[in-house]
Amino acid sequence: MAYNLLAGKKGIIFGALDEKSIAWKTALKCHEQGAQLVLTNAPVALRMGEINKLADAVQAPVIGADVTNMEDLKNLFEESQKQFGGKIDFILHSIGMSLNVRKGKHYTEMNYEWNQKTLDISAMSLHRVLRTAWDMDAINDWGSVIALTYIAAQRVFPDYNEMADAKALLESITRSFGYHYGVKKKIRINTISQSPTRTTAGSGVKGFDAFIDYAEKMSPLGNATAEDCANYCVTMFSDLTRYVTMQNLFHDGGFSFTGVSEAIVKSMGESEN
Ligand SMILES: NC(=O)c1ccc[n+]([C@@H]2O[C@H](COP(=O)([O-])OP(=O)(O)OC[C@H]3O[C@@H](n4cnc5c(N)ncnc54)[C@H](O)[C@@H]3O)[C@@H](O)[C@H]2O)c1
Repeated sequence: MAYNLLAGKKGIIFGALDEKSIAWKTALKCHEQGAQLVLTNAPVALRMGEINKLADAVQAPVIGADVTNMEDLKNLFEESQKQFGGKIDFILHSIGMSLNVRKGKHYTEMNYEWNQKTLDISAMSLHRVLRTAWDMDAINDWGSVIALTYIAAQRVFPDYNEMADAKALLESITRSFGYHYGVKKKIRINTISQSPTRTTAGSGVKGFDAFIDYAEKMSPLGNATAEDCANYCVTMFSDLTRYVTMQNLFHDGGFSFTGVSEAIVKSMGESEN
């Protein structure tokens, strides 16, 4: 439904890889709510060509940027401001990549060079994005920045591996930079902690199918979909949430505060018989 919640607002969406991506769905919702967009992803992801379909649908230019490269980010913010004819109102950071997971390394046998890269892509990149915008004064007062995270930052999910540490760092940067940007320009920065979702990044986690079923049974409302996550992002980019900042916001159907559910107890009982 179009409420025009983002009419007149301009935003950069990082991380739309294909139709399953949370960023893809968020771009569609932002467009539906009246926002003007710039889409960006790593040059290697752009070469797959899928993003052009989204660009057509939301009438947005695509500007390549590797989030670990400060020159790329500077160019992205310069070009985006040219496109918009002014500053930016919101940013979605929807980026994650684990080299140790991808290469099948167990957490206890972590390769530290790969780990550095994982932390840079998945967590420090938020600092890099914010720092670039800060140096260029590229975000309007009362702007809103959202990064996507997962509850493995607070609780142990063994197969999430080094990404748990990356998400903990991402959430910490959200608070720390959120403080400074709040004081300086009333800009708010939050993370949304999303249910497990079938996407390219999500499916990289070992045992993902069993895991998503478990989360579904453990959540009173069931797992939150990517589309609902996109809706939540829209509300966080809108002026209806102006005083929410430095928070980790669970969007998980109640999973995070459920100790055990009747559905899980029942399934354990069945496996005992
Ligand atoms: N899928 C889930 O279960 C789930 C749950 C909670 C949080 N999240 C988070 O949501 C976010 C989006 O992931 P998704 O599930 O939509 O998967 P996705 O694979 O569609 O998106 C991940 C994106 O990160 C981009 N990326 C990787 N390296 C990059 C780099 N160097 N520079 C720029 N971009 C780069 C990829 O190109 C891709 O577009 C991630 O932060 C992920 O951790 C996902």
